[in-house]
Amino acid sequence: MSEEQKKSDNRPRPTTEAFRAFVREGWAPRTGALPERAEVAPYAAARREAVSTAYPGERLVVPAGGLKVRSNDCDYTFRPHSAFAHLTGFRADCEPDTVLVLHPRSAADGGGHEAIVYTRPLAGRDTEEFFADARYGEFWVGARPTLEELEAEFGITARHIDELPDALAKDAGAVALRVVRDADRDIAALVDQIRREAGLTDEQVTESVDADDALAATLSHLRMVKDGWEIDQMRAAIDATKVGFEAVIADLDGAVQRGKGERWVEGLFGLHARHQGNGTGYDSICAAGDHANTLHWIKNTGEVRSGEMILLDAGVEVDSLFTADITRTLPVDGTFTDAQREIYDAVYAAQQAGMEAIKPGAKFSDIHAAAIRVIAERLHGWGLLPDGVSVEDTLDTETGQYHRRWMVHGTSHHLGIDVHDCALATREQYMDAELKPGMILTVEPGLYFKADDELAPERFRGHGVRIEDDVLVTETGYENLSAGMPRTSHDVEAWIAQVRGR
Ligand code: GLY
Ligand code: MN
Ligand code: MN
Repeated sequence: MSEEQKKSDNRPRPTTEAFRAFVREGWAPRTGALPERAEVAPYAAARREAVSTAYPGERLVVPAGGLKVRSNDCDYTFRPHSAFAHLTGFRADCEPDTVLVLHPRSAADGGGHEAIVYTRPLAGRDTEEFFADARYGEFWVGARPTLEELEAEFGITARHIDELPDALAKDAGAVALRVVRDADRDIAALVDQIRREAGLTDEQVTESVDADDALAATLSHLRMVKDGWEIDQMRAAIDATKVGFEAVIADLDGAVQRGKGERWVEGLFGLHARHQGNGTGYDSICAAGDHANTLHWIKNTGEVRSGEMILLDAGVEVDSLFTADITRTLPVDGTFTDAQREIYDAVYAAQQAGMEAIKPGAKFSDIHAAAIRVIAERLHGWGLLPDGVSVEDTLDTETGQYHRRWMVHGTSHHLGIDVHDCALATREQYMDAELKPGMILTVEPGLYFKADDELAPERFRGHGVRIEDDVLVTETGYENLSAGMPRTSHDVEAWIAQVRGR
Protein backbone atom coordinates (compact mmCIF):
# COMPACT_ATOMS: atom_id res chain seq x y z
CA MET A 1 0.00 0.00 0.00
CA SER A 2 1.38 3.42 -0.95
CA GLU A 3 1.98 6.14 1.64
CA GLU A 4 -0.76 8.14 -0.06
CA GLN A 5 -3.21 5.26 0.34
CA LYS A 6 -2.23 4.80 3.96
CA LYS A 7 -2.91 8.45 4.66
CA SER A 8 -6.25 8.34 2.94
CA ASP A 9 -7.33 5.17 4.76
CA ASN A 10 -10.23 6.33 6.86
CA ARG A 11 -11.03 3.11 8.65
CA PRO A 12 -10.46 2.99 12.39
CA ARG A 13 -7.09 1.45 13.23
CA PRO A 14 -6.57 0.36 16.82
CA THR A 15 -2.98 1.06 17.67
CA THR A 16 -2.51 1.01 21.42
CA GLU A 17 -0.60 -1.83 23.01
CA ALA A 18 -3.31 -2.01 25.66
CA PHE A 19 -5.90 -2.77 22.97
CA ARG A 20 -3.67 -5.42 21.39
CA ALA A 21 -3.21 -7.13 24.71
CA PHE A 22 -6.94 -6.98 25.31
CA VAL A 23 -7.88 -8.51 21.97
CA ARG A 24 -5.32 -11.35 22.35
CA GLU A 25 -6.82 -12.74 25.51
CA GLY A 26 -10.07 -14.34 26.60
CA TRP A 27 -10.73 -16.81 23.80
CA ALA A 28 -11.69 -20.42 24.40
CA PRO A 29 -8.91 -22.85 23.43
CA ARG A 30 -9.14 -24.25 19.91
CA THR A 31 -10.42 -27.81 20.02
CA GLY A 32 -7.53 -29.34 18.11
CA ALA A 33 -9.94 -31.87 16.56
CA LEU A 34 -8.72 -32.68 13.06
CA PRO A 35 -11.03 -33.10 10.08
CA GLU A 36 -11.62 -36.52 8.59
CA ARG A 37 -9.72 -37.55 5.47
CA ALA A 38 -11.60 -36.26 2.40
CA GLU A 39 -13.09 -38.88 0.08
CA VAL A 40 -11.22 -37.30 -2.83
CA ALA A 41 -7.80 -37.74 -1.21
CA PRO A 42 -6.81 -41.11 -2.74
CA TYR A 43 -8.10 -40.04 -6.16
CA ALA A 44 -6.07 -36.81 -6.03
CA ALA A 45 -3.03 -38.87 -4.98
CA ALA A 46 -3.46 -41.12 -8.03
CA ARG A 47 -3.65 -38.04 -10.27
CA ARG A 48 -0.40 -36.72 -8.76
CA GLU A 49 1.19 -40.11 -9.44
CA ALA A 50 0.28 -39.77 -13.12
CA VAL A 51 1.92 -36.33 -13.24
CA SER A 52 4.95 -37.69 -11.41
CA THR A 53 5.36 -40.43 -14.02
CA ALA A 54 5.18 -37.87 -16.84
CA TYR A 55 7.83 -35.59 -15.30
CA PRO A 56 10.56 -37.73 -13.74
CA GLY A 57 13.20 -35.72 -11.91
CA GLU A 58 11.53 -32.31 -12.39
CA ARG A 59 10.17 -29.96 -9.75
CA LEU A 60 6.57 -29.01 -10.56
CA VAL A 61 4.81 -25.96 -9.16
CA VAL A 62 1.01 -25.73 -9.32
CA PRO A 63 -0.38 -22.63 -7.59
CA ALA A 64 -3.97 -22.27 -6.43
CA GLY A 65 -3.83 -18.57 -7.27
CA GLY A 66 -4.65 -15.66 -5.04
CA LEU A 67 -7.56 -13.36 -4.40
CA LYS A 68 -8.47 -11.07 -7.29
CA VAL A 69 -9.60 -7.52 -6.70
CA ARG A 70 -13.12 -6.80 -7.89
CA SER A 71 -12.97 -3.14 -6.98
CA ASN A 72 -11.01 -1.13 -4.44
CA ASP A 73 -10.73 -3.37 -1.35
CA CYS A 74 -13.33 -5.96 -2.39
CA ASP A 75 -12.18 -9.28 -3.87
CA TYR A 76 -14.01 -11.73 -6.08
CA THR A 77 -15.07 -14.94 -4.43
CA PHE A 78 -12.02 -17.19 -4.50
CA ARG A 79 -11.87 -20.17 -6.83
CA PRO A 80 -8.67 -22.23 -7.00
CA HIS A 81 -7.04 -22.88 -10.37
CA SER A 82 -8.49 -26.03 -11.91
CA ALA A 83 -5.14 -27.85 -12.19
CA PHE A 84 -4.50 -27.20 -8.50
CA ALA A 85 -7.99 -28.33 -7.47
CA HIS A 86 -7.62 -31.49 -9.54
CA LEU A 87 -4.26 -32.46 -8.06
CA THR A 88 -5.07 -31.64 -4.45
CA GLY A 89 -8.84 -32.15 -4.11
CA PHE A 90 -9.07 -28.80 -2.33
CA ARG A 91 -12.64 -27.47 -2.20
CA ALA A 92 -14.04 -24.28 -3.69
CA ASP A 93 -13.15 -22.01 -0.78
CA CYS A 94 -9.85 -23.67 0.12
CA GLU A 95 -7.38 -21.83 0.06
CA PRO A 96 -6.02 -18.67 -1.64
CA ASP A 97 -2.25 -18.40 -2.13
CA THR A 98 -1.57 -22.08 -1.55
CA VAL A 99 0.99 -23.67 -3.87
CA LEU A 100 1.36 -27.37 -4.58
CA VAL A 101 4.91 -28.46 -5.30
CA LEU A 102 5.87 -31.92 -6.50
CA HIS A 103 9.48 -32.32 -5.40
CA PRO A 104 11.43 -35.00 -7.25
CA ARG A 105 12.81 -37.73 -4.99
CA SER A 106 16.15 -39.34 -5.63
CA ALA A 107 16.21 -42.97 -6.74
CA ALA A 108 17.73 -43.80 -3.35
CA ASP A 109 14.61 -42.30 -1.74
CA GLY A 110 12.32 -44.37 -3.94
CA GLY A 111 12.03 -42.02 -6.95
CA GLY A 112 8.82 -40.31 -7.95
CA HIS A 113 7.82 -37.08 -6.25
CA GLU A 114 6.90 -35.84 -2.81
CA ALA A 115 3.86 -33.57 -2.75
CA ILE A 116 3.93 -30.57 -0.41
CA VAL A 117 1.43 -27.73 -0.22
CA TYR A 118 2.81 -24.38 0.91
CA THR A 119 0.11 -22.29 2.45
CA ARG A 120 -0.65 -19.39 4.75
CA PRO A 121 -2.01 -21.19 7.80
CA LEU A 122 -4.34 -19.89 10.47
CA ALA A 123 -2.63 -17.02 12.29
CA GLY A 124 -2.42 -17.02 16.07
CA ARG A 125 -4.62 -14.76 18.16
CA ASP A 126 -1.53 -12.86 19.16
CA THR A 127 -0.96 -11.62 15.60
CA GLU A 128 -2.04 -8.44 13.91
CA GLU A 129 -3.57 -10.57 11.15
CA PHE A 130 -6.03 -12.15 13.59
CA PHE A 131 -8.11 -9.00 14.04
CA ALA A 132 -6.70 -6.32 11.74
CA ASP A 133 -6.19 -7.94 8.32
CA ALA A 134 -9.37 -7.46 6.29
CA ARG A 135 -8.18 -9.75 3.51
CA TYR A 136 -6.90 -12.75 5.45
CA GLY A 137 -7.70 -12.19 9.13
CA GLU A 138 -9.92 -14.51 11.15
CA PHE A 139 -12.03 -11.57 12.38
CA TRP A 140 -12.78 -10.62 8.76
CA VAL A 141 -12.96 -13.71 6.59
CA GLY A 142 -13.03 -16.56 9.08
CA ALA A 143 -10.44 -19.04 10.29
CA ARG A 144 -8.10 -20.51 7.72
CA PRO A 145 -7.12 -24.15 8.18
CA THR A 146 -3.98 -24.97 10.12
CA LEU A 147 -1.20 -26.99 8.51
CA GLU A 148 -2.27 -30.00 10.57
CA GLU A 149 -5.88 -29.67 9.43
CA LEU A 150 -4.90 -29.54 5.76
CA GLU A 151 -2.65 -32.57 6.15
CA ALA A 152 -5.40 -34.50 7.90
CA GLU A 153 -8.08 -33.64 5.37
CA PHE A 154 -6.15 -34.04 2.12
CA GLY A 155 -3.30 -36.35 3.03
CA ILE A 156 -0.65 -33.96 1.68
CA THR A 157 2.25 -32.57 3.69
CA ALA A 158 1.62 -28.89 4.43
CA ARG A 159 4.25 -26.21 5.10
CA HIS A 160 4.19 -22.48 5.70
CA ILE A 161 4.17 -20.37 2.52
CA ASP A 162 7.26 -18.53 3.79
CA GLU A 163 9.24 -21.72 3.10
CA LEU A 164 8.30 -21.72 -0.58
CA PRO A 165 11.09 -19.54 -2.08
CA ASP A 166 13.87 -21.63 -0.51
CA ALA A 167 12.10 -24.86 -1.41
CA LEU A 168 11.95 -23.79 -5.05
CA ALA A 169 15.48 -22.40 -5.16
CA LYS A 170 16.96 -25.64 -3.84
CA ASP A 171 19.02 -27.26 -6.69
CA ALA A 172 17.44 -24.76 -9.13
CA GLY A 173 20.32 -24.96 -11.59
CA ALA A 174 20.44 -28.74 -11.56
CA VAL A 175 16.76 -29.68 -11.33
CA ALA A 176 14.30 -28.42 -13.94
CA LEU A 177 11.64 -26.20 -12.44
CA ARG A 178 8.20 -26.01 -14.08
CA VAL A 179 5.31 -23.78 -13.07
CA VAL A 180 1.68 -23.42 -14.17
CA ARG A 181 2.08 -19.75 -15.04
CA ASP A 182 -1.49 -18.56 -15.46
CA ALA A 183 -2.49 -19.74 -11.99
CA ASP A 184 -0.52 -17.06 -10.13
CA ARG A 185 1.59 -14.38 -11.80
CA ASP A 186 3.53 -13.69 -8.61
CA ILE A 187 4.61 -17.31 -8.33
CA ALA A 188 5.53 -17.40 -12.04
CA ALA A 189 7.68 -14.28 -11.47
CA LEU A 190 9.29 -15.91 -8.42
CA VAL A 191 10.16 -18.98 -10.48
CA ASP A 192 11.65 -16.83 -13.25
CA GLN A 193 13.72 -14.94 -10.69
CA ILE A 194 14.99 -18.22 -9.23
CA ARG A 195 15.89 -19.38 -12.74
CA ARG A 196 17.92 -16.23 -13.35
CA GLU A 197 19.62 -16.45 -9.97
CA ALA A 198 20.53 -20.04 -10.79
CA GLY A 199 22.40 -18.77 -13.85
CA LEU A 200 19.93 -19.52 -16.66
CA THR A 201 20.41 -17.26 -19.69
CA ASP A 202 17.52 -15.22 -21.11
CA GLU A 203 17.22 -17.79 -23.86
CA GLN A 204 17.04 -20.62 -21.33
CA VAL A 205 14.41 -18.74 -19.34
CA THR A 206 12.35 -18.35 -22.53
CA GLU A 207 12.71 -22.08 -23.21
CA SER A 208 11.61 -22.75 -19.64
CA VAL A 209 8.49 -20.67 -20.18
CA ASP A 210 7.63 -22.87 -23.17
CA ALA A 211 8.14 -25.91 -20.97
CA ASP A 212 5.84 -24.32 -18.37
CA ASP A 213 3.14 -24.02 -21.01
CA ALA A 214 3.66 -27.66 -21.93
CA LEU A 215 3.14 -28.62 -18.26
CA ALA A 216 -0.16 -26.69 -18.19
CA ALA A 217 -1.26 -28.50 -21.35
CA THR A 218 -0.31 -31.88 -19.87
CA LEU A 219 -2.30 -31.18 -16.70
CA SER A 220 -5.27 -30.08 -18.80
CA HIS A 221 -5.13 -33.27 -20.87
CA LEU A 222 -4.77 -35.36 -17.71
CA ARG A 223 -8.32 -34.43 -16.73
CA MET A 224 -9.83 -35.91 -19.89
CA VAL A 225 -10.70 -39.35 -18.52
CA LYS A 226 -12.64 -38.97 -15.30
CA ASP A 227 -12.21 -41.30 -12.34
CA GLY A 228 -15.17 -42.76 -10.44
CA TRP A 229 -15.20 -39.97 -7.89
CA GLU A 230 -15.28 -37.34 -10.62
CA ILE A 231 -18.15 -39.08 -12.38
CA ASP A 232 -20.10 -39.06 -9.10
CA GLN A 233 -19.41 -35.32 -8.74
CA MET A 234 -20.76 -34.76 -12.24
CA ARG A 235 -23.90 -36.73 -11.40
CA ALA A 236 -24.37 -34.54 -8.32
CA ALA A 237 -23.85 -31.36 -10.38
CA ILE A 238 -26.42 -32.54 -12.91
CA ASP A 239 -28.98 -33.48 -10.22
CA ALA A 240 -28.54 -30.02 -8.69
CA THR A 241 -28.91 -28.40 -12.10
CA LYS A 242 -32.24 -30.15 -12.59
CA VAL A 243 -33.45 -28.57 -9.33
CA GLY A 244 -32.50 -25.14 -10.70
CA PHE A 245 -34.23 -25.72 -14.06
CA GLU A 246 -37.40 -26.91 -12.34
CA ALA A 247 -37.43 -23.81 -10.13
CA VAL A 248 -37.28 -21.71 -13.30
CA ILE A 249 -40.04 -23.71 -14.97
CA ALA A 250 -42.23 -23.43 -11.88
CA ASP A 251 -42.03 -19.63 -12.08
CA LEU A 252 -42.07 -18.91 -15.82
CA ASP A 253 -45.30 -16.98 -15.25
CA GLY A 254 -43.51 -14.84 -12.69
CA ALA A 255 -40.74 -14.16 -15.20
CA VAL A 256 -43.33 -12.94 -17.71
CA GLN A 257 -45.28 -10.84 -15.24
CA ARG A 258 -42.50 -9.16 -13.30
CA GLY A 259 -40.66 -7.63 -16.25
CA LYS A 260 -36.90 -8.12 -16.80
CA GLY A 261 -37.83 -11.78 -16.89
CA GLU A 262 -34.43 -12.98 -18.07
CA ARG A 263 -32.87 -11.51 -14.90
CA TRP A 264 -35.57 -13.20 -12.84
CA VAL A 265 -34.69 -16.52 -14.43
CA GLU A 266 -30.97 -15.91 -13.88
CA GLY A 267 -31.65 -15.12 -10.24
CA LEU A 268 -33.84 -18.17 -9.70
CA PHE A 269 -31.25 -20.49 -11.17
CA GLY A 270 -28.47 -18.72 -9.29
CA LEU A 271 -30.33 -19.05 -6.01
CA HIS A 272 -30.59 -22.80 -6.40
CA ALA A 273 -27.03 -23.12 -7.73
CA ARG A 274 -25.71 -21.38 -4.65
CA HIS A 275 -28.00 -23.37 -2.40
CA GLN A 276 -27.29 -26.74 -3.99
CA GLY A 277 -23.59 -26.27 -4.66
CA ASN A 278 -20.87 -23.66 -4.89
CA GLY A 279 -22.75 -21.62 -7.49
CA THR A 280 -23.09 -21.49 -11.24
CA GLY A 281 -20.26 -23.08 -13.22
CA TYR A 282 -20.42 -20.22 -15.74
CA ASP A 283 -22.63 -17.20 -16.28
CA SER A 284 -26.12 -18.48 -17.03
CA ILE A 285 -27.48 -17.78 -20.50
CA CYS A 286 -31.13 -16.82 -20.03
CA ALA A 287 -32.14 -15.93 -23.54
CA ALA A 288 -35.78 -15.35 -24.42
CA GLY A 289 -37.08 -14.88 -27.95
CA ASP A 290 -34.53 -13.45 -30.36
CA HIS A 291 -31.86 -13.31 -27.64
CA ALA A 292 -31.49 -17.08 -28.02
CA ASN A 293 -29.72 -16.31 -31.28
CA THR A 294 -26.89 -14.61 -29.41
CA LEU A 295 -24.85 -17.65 -28.44
CA HIS A 296 -23.39 -16.30 -25.21
CA TRP A 297 -26.25 -14.03 -24.16
CA ILE A 298 -25.29 -13.43 -20.53
CA LYS A 299 -26.55 -9.86 -20.22
CA ASN A 300 -29.99 -11.30 -19.52
CA THR A 301 -31.57 -7.88 -19.68
CA GLY A 302 -34.63 -8.86 -21.67
CA GLU A 303 -38.26 -9.63 -21.16
CA VAL A 304 -39.68 -13.13 -21.11
CA ARG A 305 -42.80 -13.01 -23.25
CA SER A 306 -45.77 -15.26 -23.62
CA GLY A 307 -45.71 -17.08 -26.96
CA GLU A 308 -41.89 -17.11 -27.12
CA MET A 309 -39.33 -19.68 -26.10
CA ILE A 310 -36.60 -19.17 -23.53
CA LEU A 311 -33.23 -20.83 -23.98
CA LEU A 312 -31.68 -21.55 -20.59
CA ASP A 313 -28.04 -22.70 -20.69
CA ALA A 314 -26.93 -23.13 -17.09
CA GLY A 315 -25.07 -25.48 -14.78
CA VAL A 316 -24.53 -25.92 -11.08
CA GLU A 317 -20.91 -26.17 -9.93
CA VAL A 318 -20.77 -28.37 -6.85
CA ASP A 319 -18.36 -27.70 -3.99
CA SER A 320 -15.67 -29.87 -5.60
CA LEU A 321 -15.86 -27.43 -8.57
CA PHE A 322 -17.26 -29.91 -11.09
CA THR A 323 -19.98 -28.30 -13.18
CA ALA A 324 -22.89 -29.39 -15.30
CA ASP A 325 -23.54 -27.59 -18.62
CA ILE A 326 -27.12 -28.11 -19.75
CA THR A 327 -29.41 -26.27 -22.14
CA ARG A 328 -33.14 -26.57 -22.49
CA THR A 329 -35.21 -24.41 -24.80
CA LEU A 330 -38.62 -24.07 -23.20
CA PRO A 331 -41.90 -22.73 -24.59
CA VAL A 332 -42.84 -20.02 -22.12
CA ASP A 333 -46.54 -20.94 -22.20
CA GLY A 334 -45.83 -24.66 -21.95
CA THR A 335 -46.59 -25.56 -25.57
CA PHE A 336 -44.47 -25.11 -28.69
CA THR A 337 -46.02 -23.42 -31.72
CA ASP A 338 -45.81 -25.41 -34.95
CA ALA A 339 -42.82 -23.39 -36.19
CA GLN A 340 -41.02 -23.62 -32.85
CA ARG A 341 -41.57 -27.38 -32.80
CA GLU A 342 -40.29 -27.73 -36.35
CA ILE A 343 -36.99 -26.12 -35.36
CA TYR A 344 -36.88 -27.91 -32.01
CA ASP A 345 -37.43 -31.35 -33.51
CA ALA A 346 -34.66 -30.75 -36.06
CA VAL A 347 -32.23 -29.84 -33.29
CA TYR A 348 -33.36 -32.85 -31.28
CA ALA A 349 -32.69 -35.15 -34.25
CA ALA A 350 -29.23 -33.63 -34.62
CA GLN A 351 -28.52 -34.07 -30.93
CA GLN A 352 -29.68 -37.67 -31.00
CA ALA A 353 -27.41 -38.37 -33.97
CA GLY A 354 -24.51 -36.72 -32.14
CA MET A 355 -25.10 -38.84 -29.03
CA GLU A 356 -25.36 -42.03 -31.03
CA ALA A 357 -21.92 -41.37 -32.49
CA ILE A 358 -20.44 -41.70 -29.00
CA LYS A 359 -18.65 -44.94 -28.27
CA PRO A 360 -15.11 -45.95 -27.36
CA GLY A 361 -12.89 -45.83 -30.42
CA ALA A 362 -15.00 -43.25 -32.25
CA LYS A 363 -13.34 -39.89 -32.74
CA PHE A 364 -14.34 -36.82 -30.77
CA SER A 365 -14.95 -35.05 -34.09
CA ASP A 366 -17.45 -37.77 -35.12
CA ILE A 367 -19.98 -36.26 -32.69
CA HIS A 368 -20.05 -32.94 -34.47
CA ALA A 369 -19.94 -34.62 -37.87
CA ALA A 370 -23.04 -36.70 -37.07
CA ALA A 371 -25.02 -33.81 -35.60
CA ILE A 372 -24.10 -31.26 -38.25
CA ARG A 373 -25.08 -33.64 -41.03
CA VAL A 374 -28.63 -33.66 -39.66
CA ILE A 375 -28.59 -29.87 -39.36
CA ALA A 376 -27.39 -29.58 -42.96
CA GLU A 377 -30.06 -32.04 -44.16
CA ARG A 378 -32.83 -30.08 -42.44
CA LEU A 379 -31.60 -26.76 -43.77
CA HIS A 380 -31.41 -28.29 -47.25
CA GLY A 381 -34.90 -29.73 -46.83
CA TRP A 382 -36.21 -26.28 -45.93
CA GLY A 383 -34.56 -24.90 -49.05
CA LEU A 384 -32.27 -22.57 -47.11
CA LEU A 385 -28.90 -23.51 -48.58
CA PRO A 386 -27.84 -21.48 -51.63
CA ASP A 387 -29.17 -22.72 -54.99
CA GLY A 388 -27.34 -25.78 -56.20
CA VAL A 389 -25.61 -26.46 -52.86
CA SER A 390 -26.22 -30.05 -51.75
CA VAL A 391 -25.84 -31.47 -48.25
CA GLU A 392 -22.46 -32.93 -49.25
CA ASP A 393 -21.41 -29.58 -50.74
CA THR A 394 -22.13 -27.66 -47.57
CA LEU A 395 -20.44 -30.29 -45.41
CA ASP A 396 -17.23 -29.88 -47.40
CA THR A 397 -14.94 -28.13 -44.94
CA GLU A 398 -12.90 -26.41 -47.66
CA THR A 399 -15.56 -25.18 -50.06
CA GLY A 400 -18.90 -25.38 -48.21
CA GLN A 401 -20.03 -24.64 -44.67
CA TYR A 402 -23.07 -22.55 -45.67
CA HIS A 403 -25.06 -24.20 -42.87
CA ARG A 404 -22.87 -22.38 -40.35
CA ARG A 405 -24.96 -19.28 -40.92
CA TRP A 406 -27.51 -21.04 -38.67
CA MET A 407 -25.19 -23.04 -36.41
CA VAL A 408 -21.74 -21.58 -36.13
CA HIS A 409 -20.53 -23.37 -33.00
CA GLY A 410 -19.15 -26.83 -32.33
CA THR A 411 -21.42 -29.58 -31.04
CA SER A 412 -19.32 -30.88 -28.23
CA HIS A 413 -16.67 -30.16 -25.63
CA HIS A 414 -15.15 -31.91 -22.67
CA LEU A 415 -16.72 -31.04 -19.34
CA GLY A 416 -15.51 -31.32 -15.76
CA ILE A 417 -13.85 -28.89 -13.35
CA ASP A 418 -13.88 -26.37 -16.19
CA VAL A 419 -16.99 -25.97 -18.27
CA HIS A 420 -14.74 -26.15 -21.32
CA ASP A 421 -12.48 -28.74 -19.73
CA CYS A 422 -9.11 -29.89 -21.03
CA ALA A 423 -9.01 -26.90 -23.37
CA LEU A 424 -5.19 -26.79 -23.46
CA ALA A 425 -4.92 -30.30 -24.86
CA THR A 426 -3.49 -30.49 -28.39
CA ARG A 427 -5.60 -31.14 -31.47
CA GLU A 428 -4.37 -34.75 -31.56
CA GLN A 429 -5.34 -35.19 -27.91
CA TYR A 430 -8.74 -33.52 -28.32
CA MET A 431 -10.43 -33.06 -31.73
CA ASP A 432 -8.68 -35.97 -33.43
CA ALA A 433 -8.52 -38.25 -30.40
CA GLU A 434 -10.48 -41.42 -29.88
CA LEU A 435 -13.19 -41.43 -27.25
CA LYS A 436 -12.41 -43.45 -24.16
CA PRO A 437 -14.63 -44.71 -21.32
CA GLY A 438 -14.71 -42.12 -18.54
CA MET A 439 -14.72 -39.06 -20.78
CA ILE A 440 -17.59 -36.64 -20.18
CA LEU A 441 -18.74 -34.49 -23.08
CA THR A 442 -21.55 -32.16 -23.96
CA VAL A 443 -23.68 -32.72 -27.04
CA GLU A 444 -25.24 -29.39 -27.92
CA PRO A 445 -26.36 -28.65 -31.44
CA GLY A 446 -28.59 -25.69 -32.15
CA LEU A 447 -30.36 -23.73 -34.86
CA TYR A 448 -30.48 -19.96 -34.70
CA PHE A 449 -32.74 -17.82 -36.85
CA LYS A 450 -32.27 -14.16 -36.08
CA ALA A 451 -35.27 -11.84 -36.27
CA ASP A 452 -33.58 -9.88 -39.06
CA ASP A 453 -32.48 -12.89 -41.07
CA GLU A 454 -34.11 -12.36 -44.43
CA LEU A 455 -32.88 -15.70 -45.71
CA ALA A 456 -34.79 -17.56 -43.00
CA PRO A 457 -38.45 -18.49 -43.48
CA GLU A 458 -40.57 -15.87 -41.77
CA ARG A 459 -42.07 -18.43 -39.39
CA PHE A 460 -38.59 -19.24 -38.04
CA ARG A 461 -37.37 -15.68 -37.52
CA GLY A 462 -36.67 -14.66 -33.95
CA HIS A 463 -36.40 -18.27 -32.72
CA GLY A 464 -33.25 -19.99 -31.51
CA VAL A 465 -33.04 -23.52 -30.13
CA ARG A 466 -30.18 -25.36 -28.47
CA ILE A 467 -30.43 -28.65 -26.61
CA GLU A 468 -27.41 -29.59 -24.52
CA ASP A 469 -26.79 -32.70 -22.47
CA ASP A 470 -23.83 -34.10 -20.54
CA VAL A 471 -22.77 -37.51 -21.73
CA LEU A 472 -20.43 -40.12 -20.27
CA VAL A 473 -18.50 -42.42 -22.59
CA THR A 474 -19.04 -45.97 -21.29
CA GLU A 475 -17.33 -49.28 -22.16
CA THR A 476 -19.96 -50.00 -24.80
CA GLY A 477 -21.31 -46.61 -25.87
CA TYR A 478 -22.65 -43.73 -23.86
CA GLU A 479 -24.80 -42.77 -20.91
CA ASN A 480 -26.67 -39.50 -21.05
CA LEU A 481 -26.05 -38.28 -17.51
CA SER A 482 -28.70 -35.58 -17.87
CA ALA A 483 -31.38 -37.94 -19.19
CA GLY A 484 -33.45 -37.07 -16.11
CA MET A 485 -34.22 -33.74 -17.77
CA PRO A 486 -36.76 -34.32 -20.56
CA ARG A 487 -35.57 -33.58 -24.06
CA THR A 488 -38.08 -34.33 -26.83
CA SER A 489 -40.57 -31.56 -27.63
CA HIS A 490 -43.48 -33.59 -26.23
CA ASP A 491 -41.57 -34.61 -23.11
CA VAL A 492 -40.54 -31.01 -22.48
CA GLU A 493 -44.19 -29.94 -22.68
CA ALA A 494 -45.21 -32.71 -20.29
CA TRP A 495 -42.36 -31.74 -17.93
CA ILE A 496 -43.47 -28.10 -17.86
CA ALA A 497 -47.08 -29.15 -17.18
CA GLN A 498 -45.99 -31.49 -14.41
CA VAL A 499 -43.68 -29.01 -12.68
CA ARG A 500 -46.24 -26.22 -12.89
CA GLY A 501 -48.98 -28.53 -11.59
CA ARG A 502 -47.06 -29.44 -8.44
N1 GLY B 1 -22.46 -22.80 -21.71
C1 GLY B 1 -21.39 -22.72 -22.60
C2 GLY B 1 -21.36 -23.87 -23.48
O1 GLY B 1 -22.38 -24.51 -23.66
O2 GLY B 1 -20.36 -24.28 -23.99
MN1 MN C 1 -21.49 -26.48 -23.49
MN1 MN D 1 -23.92 -24.67 -22.25
